[in-house]
Amino acid sequence: MKQYSNRVSRMGFSQTFVMSNKVREMKAKGIDVISLTLGEPDFDVPDNIKQAAFDAINQNYSHYSPVPGFLELREAVAKKLKRDNNLDYRPNQICVSNGAKQSILNVLCSIINDGDEVILPAPYWVSYDEMVKMLGGVPVYVETSIETEFKITAEQLEATITPKTKALLYSSPCNPSGSYYTREELKSLATVIAKNPIITVISDEIYEFTNYDGKHVSMAEFPEVYEQTAVINGMSKAFAMTGWRIGYSACPTWLATACEKIQGQMTSGANTMAQRASIVALETNPKEYHYMIEAFAKRRELVYNLLKEIPGFKVNYPKSAFYFFPDISFYLGKTICGKTINNADDFAMLLLEEAFVGTVGGVSFGNPNCIRFSYATSEENLTEAMRRIKEFLEKIQTF
Ligand SMILES: Cc1ncc(COP(=O)(O)O)c(C=O)c1O
Repeated sequence: MKQYSNRVSRMGFSQTFVMSNKVREMKAKGIDVISLTLGEPDFDVPDNIKQAAFDAINQNYSHYSPVPGFLELREAVAKKLKRDNNLDYRPNQICVSNGAKQSILNVLCSIINDGDEVILPAPYWVSYDEMVKMLGGVPVYVETSIETEFKITAEQLEATITPKTKALLYSSPCNPSGSYYTREELKSLATVIAKNPIITVISDEIYEFTNYDGKHVSMAEFPEVYEQTAVINGMSKAFAMTGWRIGYSACPTWLATACEKIQGQMTSGANTMAQRASIVALETNPKEYHYMIEAFAKRRELVYNLLKEIPGFKVNYPKSAFYFFPDISFYLGKTICGKTINNADDFAMLLLEEAFVGTVGGVSFGNPNCIRFSYATSEENLTEAMRRIKEFLEKIQTF
């Protein structure tokens, strides 16, 4: 007899992994599928970072590290936060974790009690919602649309806050929309937050460097909310180190101590070799790794021009991250190839099964009208994927 906890029963599987597993199954059967499902850079880890990991092995960095990470790494994170974001953090405010995902979970575990509300501007990254539910919190969604670049306003935020609101959790740059909040927009949100000192802002900045036309702004830059902000960042997206599992949080001291307490009982310090290599990554001039951003910027143009040609798509022009989140509501309610399209997940499944292109439907991102395309793959794959979708959708228009 299955004895699931209430915690597990409340949660869902990550839709991103559901779709990427389905792609894998189809590929295993010999079907030629192009996957635009996963959000990870397709580049190799840069050589100097790899070399630092080899050195760490040879230098026998094989024992447990301090729970919040090696002091040298926390110092490197503090220097990075000063260099790139003009933020002042001491090493004891930083907790290095097994990816930014764990950093977010550490913070949520530290502050959420049963019934506490967490505001999630929709669309949001899939795991936010499930993490909040897992912890007994209540996700409260704030709707946005493609017309407002999927961003919330200070008025919307203010209207959503209740005495039970414990946190605001968002990513900027945003997965899945590819939008980012400008300094003025963040300032207006900060003004609302500062009036509610019980609220912690969890500011997920993992796509900081993939910002094509502006300078990244962190919520923690506003002194009125510095003490209420947990900055989340990590190595996965900026250095193509998704599998190395290093992320970090920078928090007010009380919250950093709570994160350390939780992590100490869950996983201990993160992988030591990856931590040593992360020091080198953070201390290298970010310009050295700019080639990845240049490639993403080029692919964004390519995909934007091809997506615009696809019938029935309303396309956003993302200013950051590496995703498109077009509105496909034109197709909702229609029956195509014998399948009724009730929401974006049905549509994503249709594209997979009929056009052999893997995308992720927006339902688990909190938007049932849009689908997410990751363009972290080769130009050749992107061009072919867009051709397949266009051809398929043009064909069904004629029925
Ligand atoms: C918005 C956002 N935050 C956090 C993460 C998790 O990053 P990490 O690999 O460091 O756990 C992801 C990964 O897709 C993400 O898109």
